[in-house]
Amino acid sequence: MSTQSPAAVPAPSGPAKIRLRHLQQAKEQGRPFAMLTAYDQFSATVFEEAGIETLLVGDSVGTTVLGHSSTTSTTHADMLTFTAAVARSVHRPLVVADLAFGTYETGPRDAVLHGIELVRAGAEAVKLEGGAPLVPQVSALVEAGIPVFGHLGFTPQSVNAHSGHRVQGRDEEAAERLLADALAIQEAGASAIVLELVPARVAAEVTAALRVPTIGIGAGPGCDGQVLVWQDMAGLSGFRGRFVKAFADLRGTLREAAGSYRAEVEQGSYPAAEHSFE
Ligand code: KIV
Repeated sequence: MSTQSPAAVPAPSGPAKIRLRHLQQAKEQGRPFAMLTAYDQFSATVFEEAGIETLLVGDSVGTTVLGHSSTTSTTHADMLTFTAAVARSVHRPLVVADLAFGTYETGPRDAVLHGIELVRAGAEAVKLEGGAPLVPQVSALVEAGIPVFGHLGFTPQSVNAHSGHRVQGRDEEAAERLLADALAIQEAGASAIVLELVPARVAAEVTAALRVPTIGIGAGPGCDGQVLVWQDMAGLSGFRGRFVKAFADLRGTLREAAGSYRAEVEQGSYPAAEHSFE
């Protein structure tokens, strides 16, 4: 088996371990950075090899791996399992884990207790969804020594309140509210803010107004970094939202491999002599 990296993937350069300050430096230097979700050993180690600096153990594990229709079904126990799997598997990337729906809305104490468990599982920062009303939670986590990523715009845990997957911040008032929320979360101590399904112009304005990096998903090129759900990025999920670019066709590749395996087993050509023991 070859251990060489594909020629098209540049070897990672820069620090041996990515820390929060490196994301901050990237913003200050105007150097866009790429984040991907990861949920297990295979995805995490492949993305580390590809030089991805920040891995998000997203609560999207509920919809992409566990078969739920919404991230509201992802539990804290799920997050602990998948965070530990990713954290055990990688050395260089910064590992960020989502606080699951229901683990922080009830108050700062719940946020800190669940945040501590995610850190014990290996998270180096936690992410929560929401704006100004969550300032006490963000402050409490930061005071407990747990770095926080915010998440504004379309927030999947509030899919019911948003009436589905809809772009947020389109009108002037909503855009102003988004900026106010971003500033409030930043002032509470957040280290970065994910902006999801936000018009590119609005995301660029919020990015320019913040000291901390923004990470966009469906928020245009004006964010400091970008994040995608890995199965969308790799063409495995088949999801073709406007903001998604599939950089491979893993679904097709995997289907072909499974089909060839099945055909060879059915024809009796696999396993052959070289796959068998004397
Ligand atoms: O859970 C997740 O994958 C996320 C991304 C959409 C940012 O929160």
